[in-house]
Amino acid sequence: MDYAIRAEGLVRRFGATTALAGVDLAVPTGTVFGLLGPNGAGKTTAVRVLATLLRADEGHATVGGFDVVRDAHRVRQLIGLTGQYASVDETLTGAENLLLIGRLLGLSRADAKQRARQLLADFQLSDAADRAAKTFSGGMRRRLDLAASLVGRPQVLFLDEPTTGLDPRSRNDLWDIVRALVSDGVTVLLTTQYLEEADQLAGEIAVVDHGRVIAQGTPEELKAKTGGQTLTVRPSDLADLGTVTAIAGEVSGATPEVAQNAVTVAVNDPGVLPAVVSRLDAAEIAVAELALRGASLDEVFLSLTGHRAEDAEAGTDLERTSA
Ligand SMILES: Nc1ncnc2c1ncn2[C@@H]1O[C@H](COP(=O)(O)OP(=O)(O)OP(=O)(O)O)[C@@H](O)[C@H]1O
Ligand SMILES: [Mg+2]
Repeated sequence: MDYAIRAEGLVRRFGATTALAGVDLAVPTGTVFGLLGPNGAGKTTAVRVLATLLRADEGHATVGGFDVVRDAHRVRQLIGLTGQYASVDETLTGAENLLLIGRLLGLSRADAKQRARQLLADFQLSDAADRAAKTFSGGMRRRLDLAASLVGRPQVLFLDEPTTGLDPRSRNDLWDIVRALVSDGVTVLLTTQYLEEADQLAGEIAVVDHGRVIAQGTPEELKAKTGGQTLTVRPSDLADLGTVTAIAGEVSGATPEVAQNAVTVAVNDPGVLPAVVSRLDAAEIAVAELALRGASLDEVFLSLTGHRAEDAEAGTDLERTSA
């Protein structure tokens, strides 16, 4: 197979912190690869090493067949990077930002202008083209950021938590853009804390925790690791949450969880769903949602790590110093 990105044994330390503790990756050309993990897992560090912005202490990596250290300048010609934090110049307009990047990449003034205009149109930013980026909404900034990373028509695109802070609609728009890029043959390495996002976009996912890949596979393979399915019951009346929890626990024999006004419980026996329905009916409980589905990646993460992705210790941002 042809791999756009390969990494072997990447180790990177920051003082006493081991951000990468030996990471191997192989990303087939023309696919989306998801790097999934909680705060501080090492996702951004991995991206920075692969994008030639940071050197690994150990191990090596290639992008498009070029070594990220020895052939860094070749790698830079192939890649685009949308960082975790906005990188556009706030004082420039949308169009000026893209024009500047085009010029820095060596495009003629006319070509840079043309490319900027095209990307602004693709990203539904034409109307805002002549406004300073500081007046953009968060979603518009994110789109401008992504557009900026595409000016050079990269073959390999790194997207570091591209949808953090976006509303569901903007998130969906961005997913569509990523899908369109991949159908054009671009390889995408996507980091995310959204298990659903990796599930939506990635053909293959590596789950990272504390600088290590702790599991890898297709979304389906990862979901299959938890076995079973999940039953979700959301009562119309929140006052029924307690009764619903009791019924779900009794019928399934497992311990239900209550979150966001819904009860979820692991289910292994297909008979559980009808049994729960008849018990709810007998108790005259109306439900707003009743669903049986394959385990979510959230549940996969829990079963792999023993903790939920969201439970990762807060405060990693405070430890961060810019390198
Ligand atoms: N420049 C740096 N100096 C010191 N420590 C760093 C530096 N960059 C990263 N780290 C530490 O390395 C670990 C991994 O950080 P990294 O930014 O790669 O995580 P992440 O998976 O991208 O997390 P997040 O989801 O919060 O973006 C963290 O403990 C972080 O504090
Ligand atoms: Mg990060």
